[in-house]
Parts: sequence; structure tokens; C-alpha cells
Amino acid sequence: MKIALFDPSTAGSAVISMVAGPGKIRGLAALALTGLLLVPLAAIPADPHAGHGQEAAADSRHPIPLDAREKNFLLSEMREFLAVSQHILAASQAGDMKAVAAAARSVGLKAHRDDFTNPASIVQGIRKKAPQEFLPLGKATHAGFDEIADIAEQIGDKDAVNNLLADNMRRCVACHAGYRVADGH
Ligand code: HEC
Repeated sequence: MKIALFDPSTAGSAVISMVAGPGKIRGLAALALTGLLLVPLAAIPADPHAGHGQEAAADSRHPIPLDAREKNFLLSEMREFLAVSQHILAASQAGDMKAVAAAARSVGLKAHRDDFTNPASIVQGIRKKAPQEFLPLGKATHAGFDEIADIAEQIGDKDAVNNLLADNMRRCVACHAGYRVADGH
């Protein structure tokens, strides 16, 4: 079993392969997330199916008060993240590294540079309304996709691609555990 430990708030990830039994995996995943956090660990259920009743009663995620335009922008980016993650996995399984790289590059940091450098971008508007960790985590997620594209192009190894995708998707999980768009926005 390969486990990747990394700091989800930075783009560079150190991939450490180790042997671990199933019991250890959850602890290690939690450990990897603690490096980040930002997000209260209690918000990340060890068993994703546990505690739904509790969640329905109280949503402890930090609400971000976005206007309609910002919300639409954020959520469409998110749906793109999901679609691209699916494309990467399917292409990587099919051994099509060119398609992996193209999909990953389309949501990479380079492709979204303007969002992060232009002070008038919607992303900068969202940044001002969100806790300060929010944007770096999003930026690191974009950069993580560039890393996947680089590995697909340079190494072309399916396992390396899939491990990096799994690493990068911890950022999705961590951010979703901690933040939401505020009600009525
Ligand atoms: C920096 C924070 C952050 C990161 C990183 C992040 N998301 Fe999100 N995502 C959000 C927020 C906030 C919402 C809105 C959740 C809510 O209001 O309940 C959201 C919503 C979504 C939705 C629902 C979209 C809709 O139309 O309602 C999808 C799908 C999604 N994210 C996929 C992803 C995937 C896949 C990744 C990783 C590749 C990812 N997200 C990474 C913050 C993030």
C-alpha cells in the first residue's frame, strides 16, 4: 500500500512510500491532513458514513459570503475540477498520458495565472471574503494539476499520476470539510 504524506497547502509534495496495514492508513491520512490545518480535524469524519445526522443538525463549516457572480464562478470551477479529475483517472487507466496532461493542464496554475495575479479578478474578490488560508489552498490545488501534467509528460507512469491525483484530491476533501458558501448567497 502506498501512502503519500504531504503538506496540502504547498504545491510541492513529498511522496513517501511505505507499507501500512489498513488500521494505520486512517491515522496516517489524518496525520497528513493535520499538517495543513486550517480545517478543524473534527470536521473530517474518519468514517465518511458516520455522523450524517449530526451534520444535518449543525453545519460547522466556515461560511463564505459570496455574491451570485462569485458563487457561480467558484462552483463552475469546482465542477471543472471534478470533471478533470475523472478525465485524468480514465485517461491514465487507458494509458493515454497525452490526454492526462491536457486535462490536468487545463486547470493548472499556469492556465489560471490571471485569476491570481490580476487584482480585479473574481478570485481576488473571493479571497477578500474568505479566511486567509482559503486562496492558498485553491492555488495549491491548481498547482497540483500542473504537477500531474508534468509527471504525465516527463515520466508517463500511470501509478505516479494516480498517486499525485490522490494527493491533490486531499486538498478537495480538506477544503470541503472546512468551508462552504454562506446560506442565501
Ligand atoms: C480552497 C477550497 C476548495 C478546494 C481546494 C476545492 N473545493 Fe470544491 N468547493 C469548495 C466550496 C467552498 C464549495 C461550496 C460548498 C458548499 O457551499 O456547500 C465547493 C463545491 C464543490 C462542488 C459542488 C459544485 C456545485 O455545482 O455545487 C464540487 C463538485 C467540487 N467542489 C469539487 C472539487 C474538487 C474535485 C476539488 C479538488 C480537485 C475541489 N472541489 C477543491 C471549495 C474548495
